[in-house]
Amino acid sequence: MGIEVVVEGLTKSFGKQSIWRDVSLTLPAGEVSVMLGPSGTGKTVFLKSLIGLLKPEQGRVLINGVDMVNSPERDIYETRKLFGLMFQDGALFGSMSLFDNIAFPLREHTRKKESEIRRIVMERIEVVGLLGAEGKLPGEISGGMRKRAGLARALVLDPQIILCDEPDSGLDPVRTAYVSQLLIDLNAQLDATMLIVTHNLDIAATVPDNMGMLFLRELVTFGPREVLLTSDEPVVSQFLGGRREGPIGMSEEKDAATLAAEAGAAPAVPAAPRVIVPQLEPSPGLPPRKAVARRRERVLGMIDTLPPAARTAIRETYARDSRAATLPMPAAGSGA
Ligand SMILES: Nc1ncnc2c1ncn2[C@@H]1O[C@H](COP(=O)(O)OP(=O)(O)OP(=O)(O)O)[C@@H](O)[C@H]1O
Ligand SMILES: [Mg+2]
Repeated sequence: MGIEVVVEGLTKSFGKQSIWRDVSLTLPAGEVSVMLGPSGTGKTVFLKSLIGLLKPEQGRVLINGVDMVNSPERDIYETRKLFGLMFQDGALFGSMSLFDNIAFPLREHTRKKESEIRRIVMERIEVVGLLGAEGKLPGEISGGMRKRAGLARALVLDPQIILCDEPDSGLDPVRTAYVSQLLIDLNAQLDATMLIVTHNLDIAATVPDNMGMLFLRELVTFGPREVLLTSDEPVVSQFLGGRREGPIGMSEEKDAATLAAEAGAAPAVPAAPRVIVPQLEPSPGLPPRKAVARRRERVLGMIDTLPPAARTAIRETYARDSRAATLPMPAAGSGA
């Protein structure tokens, strides 16, 4: 089962350039979370910090008692094996076949026999829909296929924590919908803790249990998906609405100046109310996601701490679920 990832007070800069400050959040065990944020806000840097490839100056990332920032390097190295990371650019070796690319972590990190490696690699290749392409070089396949190969490679070590950096970039809407379904299906099969970085509003709306957003060197918010989806923070509604009007500009300087101007101006015109669409379910034939029941208990336990709009949305979601009887319900009359 997935493992909780606790991030406390994480702060990262490169030289004089501050990337983000004091980021705290918990990725609940086995749940799917999404991190949104405009380009350049440090989402990739955040993922790399979680697995200890980059070192924040302050804060902790706790996984099974190991701090991926400050623990001894050999503990970090061991804990890193729990992760599967799908890089933004695929990061495949251009001179290796897809098979060899996907087999690479097994050959590097395990002493498995070649026959066993072959079995695992072919299984993952099938999961991501690349059967038949295993002999091809990365340069001979489409961008979408490379993405899926990167995902297959992230899966070979049976990760309990899966990080995906923009699984949708460069994909058409139909392929993106397949990737969304694939992510939910993986979660149902593995019960792994997942964090997906994306700009894609369809993924944000349909895939995660939890959602957060990085903007102007801060974590704007992180919590149950309903919190972000009902938020009336200008930056959040601009991003989710895909609008030009709002604090996010083409450059970071513009962002800061616009925010300062808005602080003194009249409140922005409220955005049209956003509809929360149902979260994707695993494909037929797969087991239900174990995280669903855990998440329900967790979110209902914290509901009084959430903003009113989020509370209403969560109650509606669970009432709809119980009407559809997709969840095992404890007793009659609850959840409505
Ligand atoms: N190794 C590094 N050394 C110095 N600066 C870096 C390094 N890695 C990233 N940066 C800087 O950190 C900032 C955040 O980069 P990052 O790649 O995390 O953004 P992002 O949110 O993932 O953007 P995008 O959505 O475009 O992928 C950028 O200004 C980048 O130039
Ligand atoms: Mg990035």
